[in-house]
Amino acid sequence: MGSIAKLGSESHYWKEGQRVGVGWRGGHCLKCKPCLKGEFWACESPLATGISTDGGYAEYMVARMEVLTAIPDELTSVEAAPLLCAGATTLGALKSSSVKGGDLIAIQGFGGLGHLALQFAVKSGLKVAVVSRGTEKEALARKLGAHIYIDTNKMNAAEEIMKFGGARTIFCTAPNSKAISDLVEGLGRGGQMIIITFVNEPMLISPSQLMRAVRSVSGWVGGNAADTLKFSVLTHVVLMVEVFPLEQASVAFDRMMTAKVHFRSVLKISEG
Ligand SMILES: NC(=O)c1ccc[n+]([C@@H]2O[C@H](COP(=O)([O-])OP(=O)(O)OC[C@H]3O[C@@H](n4cnc5c(N)ncnc54)[C@H](OP(=O)(O)O)[C@@H]3O)[C@@H](O)[C@H]2O)c1
Repeated sequence: MGSIAKLGSESHYWKEGQRVGVGWRGGHCLKCKPCLKGEFWACESPLATGISTDGGYAEYMVARMEVLTAIPDELTSVEAAPLLCAGATTLGALKSSSVKGGDLIAIQGFGGLGHLALQFAVKSGLKVAVVSRGTEKEALARKLGAHIYIDTNKMNAAEEIMKFGGARTIFCTAPNSKAISDLVEGLGRGGQMIIITFVNEPMLISPSQLMRAVRSVSGWVGGNAADTLKFSVLTHVVLMVEVFPLEQASVAFDRMMTAKVHFRSVLKISEG
């Protein structure tokens, strides 16, 4: 997030001084189908750089013009920043799913992605169950619109979800393969589990668990940041962030990596 200090010679679409952001992107081969549609987060090039590009924690950065997103005046930079990745990802996953108004969606993990997924789902007319550990986050989840709160320390989440008829969709944001695998039984007939979290341990799901109730499990990455900003402005999405000065980037990073931050770390660069 920031404003354009200097434009490249061919960047006609943008203006110097304009407030813009750079969300997460897969790459920019400019040849594959997603790139040709402007969906750079899904670049299929084997050379796609993804999250491994250096230079994000800096006062100045070089960005390709096609990955910029204009920031609406209604949002402060601190509010807009988490929407460019956590927001775009969860709204993108929601749009990719088959859920319709009134359906039950379960959101596993109530952190940076989870608190936005909850709000996007509620504002899309869905019935939402939040699946989290402990009761600490229940009040906030309900305040942000959760209809059901399931504490996995006390309850079997899949059984609880089935008491409501089973979920049409389950979004998994918590990085725990066992917890994700256990939730498959909470999918109703034809239900779809969408995995948004990065986790490398294998899942343990039997083919018959999927076959019996025509369930499916898929993954999702990235999303359209511009659409997410518009949706968030129109529906007054609430951003839960902790703001740190750039000098405390490592503190912010540690709080993020240990899931202690409520709920997104945002680095603010002092002006002047
Ligand atoms: N697909 C994409 O494009 C994309 C984009 C951005 C991020 N991600 C990935 O998405 C994941 C989540 O990111 P985030 O920013 O939301 O992380 P986060 O803020 O740390 O939230 C994860 C939440 O999962 C909860 N959790 C952990 N284990 C759990 C369990 N067994 N049962 C229930 N809840 C559990 C944690 O809550 P407690 O510890 O309080 O229980 C935490 O609040 C990360 O792996 C991140 O890399 C993917």
